[in-house]
Amino acid sequence: MGDNVILVGFMGAGKSSVGQLLARHLGRCFVETDDMITAREGRSIPEIFAERGEAHFRALEEETVRLLALKSGDVIATGGGLFCREGRPAALRALGTVVWLHADFDALYERARRAGERPMLAGRGRAEVEALYRAREPYYRQADLTVDTTSINPDQVATRVLLGLREKLSRVPLSPLGRGEGEGAR
Ligand code: S3P
Repeated sequence: MGDNVILVGFMGAGKSSVGQLLARHLGRCFVETDDMITAREGRSIPEIFAERGEAHFRALEEETVRLLALKSGDVIATGGGLFCREGRPAALRALGTVVWLHADFDALYERARRAGERPMLAGRGRAEVEALYRAREPYYRQADLTVDTTSINPDQVATRVLLGLREKLSRVPLSPLGRGEGEGAR
């Protein structure tokens, strides 16, 4: 398994802010799949949606998932829909530890509406956005770790993620030589 830390979750989950904090704590590089897409396309996510449509954006996400295979040791924040396609949970879990930043829908909706321009919210009422969230939940549930972010700030979320990662690492079985998994005998 890869050694990236991959953040997934709905819009408003705090993937970008928590990802930056985590990367700083862990001394790792921080990467956002939306930034990979805008850098390659030379235009913003809202522009991509407006000019080429959602289907084109999803094709760019597919390409981005392939490029993620080149990453190691990074903290990666994914766009809210990237994890929610057939085969994606398995593909991303093969690249590292997948962490779902979970929150009550009400909290997510408020945060998502407050910050940034989000094409998936444009022209959709609250009920439609909630239906989208409910359809995505079964994918998010396939993460390795879940952290509830509902009423805590990004610093507190980052601390919880770090604790979760540490606990998960402590469960990695040791070989008879007492070495951790992946550190072959030398
Ligand atoms: C999307 C979420 C956005 C961005 C794009 C599509 C989605 O990322 O990838 O607008 O389908 O939920 P954030 O989750 O960072 O807002």
